[in-house]
Amino acid sequence: MKVLITGITGFAGSHLSEFLLSKKYEVHGIERWRSKTENIDSFKDKIVLHECDIKDYHSVKKVIESVLPEKIFHLAAQSFVPTSWNAPSETITTNIIGELNIFEAVKELKINPWIQIACSSEEYGMVYENEVPIKETNPLRPLSPYGVSKVAQDLLGYQYHQSHNLNIVRTRTFNHEGPRRGEVFVTSNFAKQIADIEKKKKPPVLYVGNLDARRDYTDVRDIVRAYWLATEKCVAGEVYNICSGRDWKIKDMLNYLLSLSKIKVEVKQDPARMRPSDVQILLGDCTKFTKQTGWKPEIPFEKTLEDLLNYWRERI
Ligand code: GDD
Repeated sequence: MKVLITGITGFAGSHLSEFLLSKKYEVHGIERWRSKTENIDSFKDKIVLHECDIKDYHSVKKVIESVLPEKIFHLAAQSFVPTSWNAPSETITTNIIGELNIFEAVKELKINPWIQIACSSEEYGMVYENEVPIKETNPLRPLSPYGVSKVAQDLLGYQYHQSHNLNIVRTRTFNHEGPRRGEVFVTSNFAKQIADIEKKKKPPVLYVGNLDARRDYTDVRDIVRAYWLATEKCVAGEVYNICSGRDWKIKDMLNYLLSLSKIKVEVKQDPARMRPSDVQILLGDCTKFTKQTGWKPEIPFEKTLEDLLNYWRERI
C-alpha cells in the first residue's frame, strides 16, 4: 500500500515514516529543495522523496497524480506558535492553502484516499479551568495566528468531507515530544540548553519563558501510531482529540529534565520568550479516539524526556 506524507522531513513525519516502513508500506514524501534531511537520513534509501512546495497547487497535484496514494498524512505546516506572530501571513498561507491544495488535487483527480490532517489542541486556545479535560465539543477560541490557521484546516476538513465526500479524518493532537524535536520547542530547547551546559559550551544559565503554562504531553512514537490508527479505524469527517490525559506544568517538566543531569543552573526569564497571549492550560480527553481505535499511549513522558536529553547529548 502506498502512502504519502507531507512534512516527511520534519519531526512527526520522520517518526511516522519509520512506523509505516515497519508495517511494510511503500512510503512517499514531499520535500522542498531546501528542506533539511537530517531526520530521515538514516532511512532515506527506503522511502521515495518528491520535490514539491505545498503552497504550489500544480506541484502538489503532480505528486499526488504520480503516486496515487491510498493514504495521505498531512503533517507539513508552519508549526511554531511564536513564528505565527512574526510571520502571520506565511503561517496562514502554508497551513491553509497547503491543505486546500491537497483537497483540490484529490477532488480533481477523482481519487479518494484516506486523508489524515494534523489539527491541534492550540485550536482550543482560551480554555477555562472548568472545561478541562477538554473534549472535542469545547468551543474553539484560538489565541495565535497559528491557532486560527489550525481551526481553518480543521473546518476545511469537515467541509470537504461534507461537500465532496472526501475520506478526511481530523486529529486534534496535543503536545508531542521526543528525539528529533525541533530545538525551538520548549522540551527540546531546555534539553539542548542542559546538554550545552553539561559540555561547557554555555555558561550555567538556563533561559525560559512562561513556566506556569500547562501542557498535555505524549511521546511522538505513540502519536504516529495514533495517526495510522486514525486512517484504519476512524470515521471520515469526524474529529478526534489525541492526548495522554495528564498535564505537566512547564516548570515541573524543566525540573524533571534538570533531575536527569548533575549540573546546577540559574534559571532566568528571557522576555523574548514570552508570548503576546499564551495558552495557559491544555489538558485533553481522548475517550472518543480510544473507544474508536483502542489506542492508548504506551511510553511514559519521563522516558520521552530522557530520550530527548540523550538525543541532544549525542549531538553536542
Ligand atoms: N518554545 C518555548 N521556549 N516555550 C516556552 C519556553 C521557551 O523557552 N518557556 C516556556 N514556554 C512555554 C510556552 O509559552 C508554552 O506555554 C509551552 O511552553 C509550550 O511551548 P512549545 O513547546 O513551543 O509548544 P506549544 O504548546 O506552543 O505548541 C506545540 O503544541 C501544539 C499542540 O498543542 C507545537 O508543537 C504546535 O505545533 C502544536 O500544534
